[in-house]
Amino acid sequence: MVDVEALSAELAGAGPGAIVQRALAEHGADVAISFSGAEDVLLIELARQSGLTFRVFSLDTGRLHPETYRFFAAVEKHYGLRIEYCLPDGAQVQALVRQKGLFSFYEDGHTECCNLRKVEPLRRQLATLTAWITGQRRDQSPTRAEVPVVQVDPGFRGQGGAPLIKYNPLANVTLDYVWASLQGFEVPTNELHGRGLISIGCEPCTRAVLPGQHEREGRWWWERASDKECGLHQR
Ligand code: ADX
Ligand code: SF4
Repeated sequence: MVDVEALSAELAGAGPGAIVQRALAEHGADVAISFSGAEDVLLIELARQSGLTFRVFSLDTGRLHPETYRFFAAVEKHYGLRIEYCLPDGAQVQALVRQKGLFSFYEDGHTECCNLRKVEPLRRQLATLTAWITGQRRDQSPTRAEVPVVQVDPGFRGQGGAPLIKYNPLANVTLDYVWASLQGFEVPTNELHGRGLISIGCEPCTRAVLPGQHEREGRWWWERASDKECGLHQR
């Protein structure tokens, strides 16, 4: 088991690339990058630059934008990899949409749909790993202001029910830093960013923000800022 305290101390002043490299070196084939199809493609670029082998998974909720699906394909081609898509349980999704329709989240909140389409598939994927790597940043939201670079995941378990390590290599960098890096490294990006979308999730639950608006204002905009977590990242 990784000594998270020692690792946190070691990585305290490290940049995102060094953190990604350390995670890959520590966990090998038992760690994977959790890729949303947005600007967290930087994690994939940093993994490539490390020269180590790495895995990438995405939660395909079935409700992503067509542009995001095309971006997944472009990323696969650019990096010569196959993303491990994690799909929701068909019977559960069918039961929900037959009972409540396709847009129940506008009526009674996003939790039920996110649980089925994101959290449960994530739980299944994480149960095969010892660690995961996310693109969470402290500047994304008040709910993320304390995100550490490395932690024992407070909500999910890993292989065999053991504690799971969670790396957040972008925790201490800003959105501007991420975009400067993407441009500097000439990384492919999701075309939706060119249309005012900053934070990108499912199509019905994401919209463009105006200049000066915070990126998370475009996610679940009909709900309070304090509710804007879908269960992937527990505190
Ligand atoms: S969310 O919880 O609100 O949906 P956000 O879009 O900010 O998350 O993304 C933060 C990080 O969560 C991403 O960088 C990625 O690591 C992970 N993540 C979010 N959505 C997905 C997804 N569909 N598939 C895989 N990982 C995801
Ligand atoms: Fe469902 Fe919206 Fe959550 Fe996607 S973000 S899983 S569509 S509630």
